[in-house]
Amino acid sequence: MGPRAEPPALPALEPALLPADQTLLFFSERDCNWLQALEGEIDTSHISFLHWGSVRAEDLPEGNIARYALANRRPELKVTTTGFGTMYGAWREVDGKIYWRFSPFAFPFWTMPPEGHFIQHLLVRAWVPLDDYHTMMINLAWKGNAPRSRKLKNGELPAGFGDRPENGSSAARTVEFLPNTSDWFGRWRLRQNASNDYEIDREVQRTASFTGIPGIHAQDQAITESMGPIVDHEFEHLGHGDLMIIQTRRRLVQAALALQNEGTIPPGVDDPELYLQGPRRRLCHRRAARRGGALHHLSPHVGRPGGNRAHAGFR
Ligand SMILES: [Fe+2]
Repeated sequence: MGPRAEPPALPALEPALLPADQTLLFFSERDCNWLQALEGEIDTSHISFLHWGSVRAEDLPEGNIARYALANRRPELKVTTTGFGTMYGAWREVDGKIYWRFSPFAFPFWTMPPEGHFIQHLLVRAWVPLDDYHTMMINLAWKGNAPRSRKLKNGELPAGFGDRPENGSSAARTVEFLPNTSDWFGRWRLRQNASNDYEIDREVQRTASFTGIPGIHAQDQAITESMGPIVDHEFEHLGHGDLMIIQTRRRLVQAALALQNEGTIPPGVDDPELYLQGPRRRLCHRRAARRGGALHHLSPHVGRPGGNRAHAGFR
């Protein structure tokens, strides 16, 4: 797309720097606008309601990080703009400790969900618009990510978690797909979808989970699709919990206007290393090298010989 003969290099996002055999890819098509889907991802407080709503902090064993998000379901947010996009830090005080969740939005459509310790969790998601009403979510994760336990003290998973067979990556754990078709939007469609009410179980919803919908991914899918393909924003009353969404919309609009009015190329297009800031840049180089990958798998801008064939290292 666009006037360039060669596509720009892919951004130097850490999971994309790894060798292909160390990464897990997961695709999922979503029937709504790409920004609507992305905004669900950067809304940090939804985990305490949509996914974990029926669980009490004391139901989880000591050491499970989800306890913090359940003991205090009302995070405070600090949001800033960065060279690559926006970043939030959401904090909650629980038992005299501060629990932080950090997560960025990076141009044009990348997110990194706060899944755990930075060193142990490498994960990025792309929310790629197929048109105004359809989005392809692409989840790229390191195979070595530390496993997360979601089990309750009694050894069982909360209702809505892990109701389906394991499929590999954490995002795909509870997902089953319809057969692909030759339709323009015929790939990576979830079996749980609006036509079957996402296989909602009303009895489970009454007694055991807020949604009654099996699977974390399907819950996210349901909540962003069921708003309609593009929700009417006239009805919104944004508040403190929406600061990241407000700032991200503003950053996107500013970049779009700068491109339209002054021809300013949006962040990251010509500088794939923009996504590696400060100490993280050095850390990333070291870790990529240790795992057998390197920045030069990605981009001619950082020394890959042989021209702009950046997709080769991405799988
Ligand atoms: Fe979610």
